[in-house]
This record gives sequence, structure tokens and C-alpha cells, in this order.
Amino acid sequence: MSNTAFQQLTVTQAAEARVSIRKYTDEAVSDETINELIRVAGTAPTPWNLQPWRIIAVKDKDTLAKLQEAAYGQRQVGSSAVTFVIATDMDDVIATLEDTVHPGMADRVDETAKSIRDHFAGYSAADLHWWGRSQGYSFMAYLLLAAQSHGYATSPMLGFDPAKVKEMFGLGENVQIPAIVSLGRPAEEGFPQFRHPLDRYVKIV
Ligand SMILES: Cc1cc2nc3c(=O)[nH]c(=O)nc-3n(C[C@H](O)[C@H](O)[C@H](O)COP(=O)(O)O)c2cc1C
Repeated sequence: MSNTAFQQLTVTQAAEARVSIRKYTDEAVSDETINELIRVAGTAPTPWNLQPWRIIAVKDKDTLAKLQEAAYGQRQVGSSAVTFVIATDMDDVIATLEDTVHPGMADRVDETAKSIRDHFAGYSAADLHWWGRSQGYSFMAYLLLAAQSHGYATSPMLGFDPAKVKEMFGLGENVQIPAIVSLGRPAEEGFPQFRHPLDRYVKIV
């Protein structure tokens, strides 16, 4: 990656340092860096290793301005070096199973594809697409940490009109958009991180 001046953080350091940043410097981000962050985020695990995410990395300024409009004017989109549209497409997953199963299962591709198709045949379309959507959040979380570890700030968002975003990028009706994530070098500190104490939500038995 091109940002060698930054000391990469450990996962724990990145998690503890990360806060949402909604204003960025003008520094551009290279395609190499974008691809590397996506690659790392894509190491997130998924059931059957289905990896239903389909990512659009928007860095063109005019397109970012339109995406900002679709995100109810949220300034972090227009200010970002790149905004990732994290989409999930279970119809594509189901249609392409034979091409995407783990190479280690080469001798059982048809069998594996059939058992996955049989499993999802019991799902309504809505449940199928929500299943895929939920996997998108693993990708999102990994992306936030990967970015932070390389000195980039991020802002995950649900505040956008999915119909408008789908229209912008020609995404089908079935496609879900679990989140969009803006990224750039930080130009503000953001709010200090606040998280509930463990005793509020943890039970060890
Ligand atoms: C899936 C998701 C969607 C979010 N949507 C928005 C959003 O649309 N606009 C916004 O300003 N912040 C949004 N946030 C940021 C949260 O408000 C923020 O992560 C939370 O308050 C914790 O603060 P921190 O990110 O600074 O640690 C979103 C966060 C997540 C994880």
C-alpha cells in the first residue's frame, strides 16, 4: 500500500482508536489501496464461505456528489476520498455456486452446490436477501478496522435512500445495501468513543 508512512495498528489498537469521522482531507486514495482494503475486508468469514458482498468503490467527485444527495446530504460522502457501497446479492451467489465454492472441495462441487441450493430453497425471497445482507456487516466491520490500521478514517452509514443508490449503480431489486462507508484521511477528531460497560451486556456462565 502507498501509505507506508503510517505504522499499521494491531486489530485491538485499530478497534480502540476508531471513531466515526465525517470530514476528510483532500488527500486522494490510490486504486491499489482501495483494492487492498477491500481484499482485507473480504477475508471476513461467511457461512459456507459464500461471500455475498459486491462492492462499488466510488471516488469520482461527481458521483460522490450524487451519492451524497442519496445519503440525505451527509457531508462525509462528498468529503471522502472514496465511499464504498457495500451491496449483497444472494441471487448471484445462488446462480454461481459452481464457480465459487472452495477449491479444496473440487471433487464435490455439484454436491455442495446442491446442498446449499436445497437449504436456501426453504427461504422466502425476503429472508434470503436479509441473510445475505447480514453477512455484509462482517465485511463492513473488517473494512473499518483495515482502514483504521492503515491510518484512514471511516464513517459507516445507513442514512441513505437504497432505491436511489441502486438506481445510480444499476443494482437489481433483489440487491441489498447493508451500508455505505466513507473513507479518507481525518480532518476532525470526531466524538470520543463511548461504549457500554461489559456488565451491561455480558454474562459468563
Ligand atoms: C451500520 C451503521 C450505520 C450508521 N449510519 C450512520 C449514518 O447514516 N450517519 C452517521 O452520521 N453515522 C452513522 N453511523 C455511525 C454511528 O452513529 C456510530 O458508529 C456510533 O455512534 C458509534 O460512534 P463511533 O463510530 O464514533 O465509535 C452508523 C454506524 C453504523 C455501524
